Amino acid sequence: MLWIHPILQALVTIGAFYVFYLGLQRFRSAHLGHRVPFNWKRHVVMGRWVIIGWLLGLAVGKMAVNAEMGMMGIFADHNQGAMVMTPLMLIAYVSGTYMDRRKARRTALPLVHAANNVLLLGVALYQVYTGWPIVENFLLN
Ligand code: HEM
Ligand code: HEM
Repeated sequence: MLWIHPILQALVTIGAFYVFYLGLQRFRSAHLGHRVPFNWKRHVVMGRWVIIGWLLGLAVGKMAVNAEMGMMGIFADHNQGAMVMTPLMLIAYVSGTYMDRRKARRTALPLVHAANNVLLLGVALYQVYTGWPIVENFLLN
């Protein structure tokens, strides 16, 4: 039970870097004038799965800590990282879905989406950094 969360979140985080790589191609063609193709459909499908996966993983982590220790929010820095990620995940999903449903030439919203998601990836890396000591101390011991 305790292993589900770290393994799931690690896999999803790797997937997020692929989604970011796809998004970067859009950034290059839209803002830098580079002639590169953007796999729109794959970015949207995988982007959705990444957000859903992280949210599911968050719930599994909370439930695992509650089942094992009888309360939640024990791992303060890791828990706070998740609380910062939550609104960023919602912004990523809502802005992405909006741009997918109503296709148009835009500058500001894709940039907001990109900046939000770079921040999101940064906090996900912070989760790796704060989550690994929990694995070492509680799962491997
Ligand atoms: C970890 C998740 C995600 C990352 C890292 C990410 C990253 C990016 C980046 C860097 C761009 C280029 C923005 C620009 O040109 O300035 C982009 C564009 C886009 N993203 Fe995402 N994204 C994510 C999730 C999503 C999701 C969940 C959706 C849809 C449900 C989505 C839909 C789109 C669309 C439609 C565009 C093109 C917007 C346009 O140029 O009009 N993205 N994304
Ligand atoms: C990718 C590397 C990550 C690792 C190695 C990791 C590791 C862990 C571990 C070992 C636990 C204890 C419970 C359990 O084992 O199931 C935990 C709890 C938790 N994790 Fe992660 N995690 C990672 C990423 C994430 C991400 C991306 C999020 C948020 C989206 C997150 C949110 C949480 C939350 C909310 C808890 C419960 C904390 C508490 O109530 O004290 N984790 N994590």
